[in-house]
Amino acid sequence: MKKASTAVSPPPPSPEITARVDALLGKMSLAEKIGQLAQISGAEFMPGPAAEDTIRQGGAGSVLWLNNTKRFNDLQKVAVEESPSGIPLLFALDVIHGYRTIFPVPLALASSWDPDVAEQAQSIAAKEARAAGIHWTFGPMIDIARDARWGRIVEGAGEDPYLGSAMAAAQVRGFQGSNLADPERVLACAKHFAGYGAADGGRDYDPVFLSEAQLRNVYFPPFQAAVDAGVATFMSAYMDLNNVPASGCRWLMRDVLREEWGFTGFVVSDAFAVGNLVIQGHARDGQDAARRALTAGLNMDMASGTYVGNLADLVQDGSLSVDQIDEMVRPILTLKLQMELFENPYVDETLLDKVVALPEHRQAARQAAQRSMVLLRNEGGLLPLSKNLKNVAVIGPLADSMEATEGSWMVFGHQPAAVTVLQGVRAKLADGAVSYAPGPEINRDFPHPFGEFNLSERKPLQSLEDAEAAFHTAVATAKEADLVIMVMGENADMAGEFASRGSLDLPGRQEELLKAVHAMGKPVVLVLLNGRPLSINWAAENIPAILEAWEPGSEGGNAVADILFGDVNPGGKLPVCVPRSGSHAPLYYARTLTHQPESSPMYRSRYWDSPTTPLYPFGFGLSYTTFAITKLRLSKAQVKLGQSITVTADVTNTGQVTGDEVVQLYIHQKWGSDSRPMRELKGFERVTLQPGETKTVTFQLGPDELRYWSTNANGWVQDAAAFDLWVGADSLATLHADFEVVD
Ligand code: NOJ
Repeated sequence: MKKASTAVSPPPPSPEITARVDALLGKMSLAEKIGQLAQISGAEFMPGPAAEDTIRQGGAGSVLWLNNTKRFNDLQKVAVEESPSGIPLLFALDVIHGYRTIFPVPLALASSWDPDVAEQAQSIAAKEARAAGIHWTFGPMIDIARDARWGRIVEGAGEDPYLGSAMAAAQVRGFQGSNLADPERVLACAKHFAGYGAADGGRDYDPVFLSEAQLRNVYFPPFQAAVDAGVATFMSAYMDLNNVPASGCRWLMRDVLREEWGFTGFVVSDAFAVGNLVIQGHARDGQDAARRALTAGLNMDMASGTYVGNLADLVQDGSLSVDQIDEMVRPILTLKLQMELFENPYVDETLLDKVVALPEHRQAARQAAQRSMVLLRNEGGLLPLSKNLKNVAVIGPLADSMEATEGSWMVFGHQPAAVTVLQGVRAKLADGAVSYAPGPEINRDFPHPFGEFNLSERKPLQSLEDAEAAFHTAVATAKEADLVIMVMGENADMAGEFASRGSLDLPGRQEELLKAVHAMGKPVVLVLLNGRPLSINWAAENIPAILEAWEPGSEGGNAVADILFGDVNPGGKLPVCVPRSGSHAPLYYARTLTHQPESSPMYRSRYWDSPTTPLYPFGFGLSYTTFAITKLRLSKAQVKLGQSITVTADVTNTGQVTGDEVVQLYIHQKWGSDSRPMRELKGFERVTLQPGETKTVTFQLGPDELRYWSTNANGWVQDAAAFDLWVGADSLATLHADFEVVD
């Protein structure tokens, strides 16, 4: 949460590369320059001029929505050998949580509270994607999301700017590495700039209204962290931010991103967003849209064709200068040269098979999934289960679903290939010990518009009669078993883009089935596969063991079984509050105090029909062992403005098995220029401890952690004020100390 970046980001080009860019700009026609600002669709489902023809004329700088290695090389050959200046194309695709080896969704990676897990996952995603011929991914998605109804919460790191910044930087490092010319990495893209996660009502694309203080204190920090980590590109968001479409917002793209943060890469619009400026009522027509977006600082038009269709006329009539066009083209050419695309434009078509076969990729996916899962409940120590169980039923519509296990946002054309929970459980037990019934299917009420792109063929919906029969079969199967593992949650198409919901309940008849199985009095374990927090109020009271597995990726079923049978001790923590109802969203822990604070006896008056607290708090997660966090020490109780305090605490494994605890540090500034959140995360560390072992964790609190953007001061401030500080295992931590910052 720094005020301004000092470094230039991404890394500056060498003088030789700058000279080559100058030489190229000197010889390129205006049409070719405008072509570099165009990203065209390579998808067969989109009608339009043949990509080859556009590329041959120098009319495209980048191609998206294509995932075909051979075709990458074919199109690249046209660009390099037949276009006027022979500038290679950038092939771009959404590689969000894996290319062929699928990792847990980003919300799950954030639940690991281990940035190294996210970095490693994205480095493997980059290696596979690059081997397929992709140069640039549209990730990481680093929108803060505090409203679980918003479908895209699955793609980000949850509700918190501190955790979100750590995950943003880690993913940038994973995708890009430290050298833009690394042939095993891809360019990263920080998206969606900015505020997209705060859509009114959690409805995808709806307007966003955020104060400058909210933007700077909550929504911007992951983006600035991405810049500081050297991210090469940004993507502008679709929606209106305070009544200005983000893709036409000069304040975002020029004043904040470039002037303040020192970003020197390029900004691509979200798909069709430049053309959408007309639909959104911001631009009069396409020409107006092109002028507004370009002058606002948007370099590349994704798929709308608005730049190509209008920029030349705007230069012709003097509305824009060639210098303004050059300014937009320069960082695109610079990055292509820094990547050494001119030297190595093609991909070895035999490489991908070798790379995806590397066993360490699957191992890393399994470990990432293990570290991402959050144990929500374990009454009476039902978990871990014995491997000697003879008669286990695995029940639920997601138990054997490869799609739900791999999760939302697959790359185009991906064939799901996950180990399902059913398969994972079967692998742990003797042959014949596991029976299975899916129960009724679950489906969206309105189909997903991307359904047509998915290779998995769309099946006709299950009839009511078939659903009823499936329900009874599931109950009968459970009845025969000694223990039941229910696998429930959301299908992959229920979270992500176009996937907002009003309710956060288990969709379809899942809870009814859960109740019917529970009524038999057998031990029941609930495994959740889902891309957003779900309001599992009944289960939270009645089902003794609940594992939040999220959408855990290709090795998800194995990782679930590793945890259920005790080969791995869960240590993930929630990166979001779990609301008791969709109507409670947005819900987050870092609210400001009110005149009726939570400690007040009147606090319950927020709603008269429900507690206002989350069902599970931010930062929460259980383990098969227990921990004690003690001996909170501060290097000083009073510091001067600008100085730092060192905070230490001891964490001890007080149980019988090795386990991980995520030690979390929260602060609250008691008064100051503005009201401050009742708690804010300012440090965390995940530690592994043997039984009886103690480790000391250390955190630094300095001006970066203590300053904030003040509405009252209209700028960054660090107040002389008193602070509460807590260290503990979740956002309700009680181990407390005071400190003061003085003039
Ligand atoms: C729209 C999505 O909002 C964005 O995240 C994605 O990268 C682009 N489409 C390209 O597929």
